[in-house]
Amino acid sequence: MGWVSMQRNFQSLLRIPAQMCEADVELVAPGRYYNRRLCADNVWEIDVCSDIMDEVAQLFHEDSPFAEVIAGMKEPYDVISTRVGDFFAQRVSWDSNIAWVSVDEEASFRHFADVFQRLRLAERFAHVVPHTRNLQLYSSFFVVRTWCKSHNFHQDYKPPVGTDALTLITPLRDFTEKESFHLTYRARDATSDRRWDSRYEYRKGKAIVFGSQFEHSTEPGEGHNGECHAFLCFTFGTDEQSRWTQIARTLDTQSRIVAHPNGQLVLSHLGREIERIVNEQRQAADEGEHRQVESEPSLPLGGYGAAEEEEVFLSGGYGLLRKPGEEKHGLIKAEL
Ligand SMILES: [Fe+2]
Repeated sequence: MGWVSMQRNFQSLLRIPAQMCEADVELVAPGRYYNRRLCADNVWEIDVCSDIMDEVAQLFHEDSPFAEVIAGMKEPYDVISTRVGDFFAQRVSWDSNIAWVSVDEEASFRHFADVFQRLRLAERFAHVVPHTRNLQLYSSFFVVRTWCKSHNFHQDYKPPVGTDALTLITPLRDFTEKESFHLTYRARDATSDRRWDSRYEYRKGKAIVFGSQFEHSTEPGEGHNGECHAFLCFTFGTDEQSRWTQIARTLDTQSRIVAHPNGQLVLSHLGREIERIVNEQRQAADEGEHRQVESEPSLPLGGYGAAEEEEVFLSGGYGLLRKPGEEKHGLIKAEL
């Protein structure tokens, strides 16, 4: 018997409707929940502790260079050092200056794993995510942007993922701009299946959490007077390693390191590609070659479904690749 059917039987035995597990949300099919308030599949809105979020916001806004990442990124990749460890910044769109700034070593991973644990997210979503022992945190990010020109609708995970993996996004503060530049998503009427575009407004102390089947986009717009819209983002889900192949289609290019369902912190597909290029360059240097690089190295473009057959590559990243030397960049494996 599958986990979902077991859960359904358990609920019917106890006469507990699924929606009691999460207000307004009910299980409608294996791996598919319908949220009647938001009128969409596999999406939840939850409260998050404001005091913990203030801590995270302090880390972001204090003298670390996160806020400058947008203005300062001359290349698609950069590394940011902070008091809790290194982060890896990645520009992922031409229609927005959005940057994903992911934990990039064990220290920063552990720092945000502690935040994840204190927010009790594994416990809160244990009834949604099929798992064996505990839900696993895969990666943590700051998501940062000041403008977006057009919609880019997507689902974070491929349909086979169901609710095996989830994404959580919560703003670090309330934004001045309220009318635009939040979240657009495809709503669906559960009875008629009629569909329309709806919007979700980010609020401090609230997080939106979603799995596959939730189609969404940054809402076009810009921060008031250039205000930076910064978010904390977690990706997390099942601890069953056999599910990673499908989940990796999304998560293997979003960061340079990633924790697998089995808890091992390893290089992602993107991380391995960077290693490969760095090592090739080192080898060439060691052999005394002075190769003239005719074209820039290409790395997998972070995004949704990027790590698969229609893989998209982003040229650039020289700034990052030039940094290795004796630094740990290009030697991340030794750090894990
Ligand atoms: Fe997304």
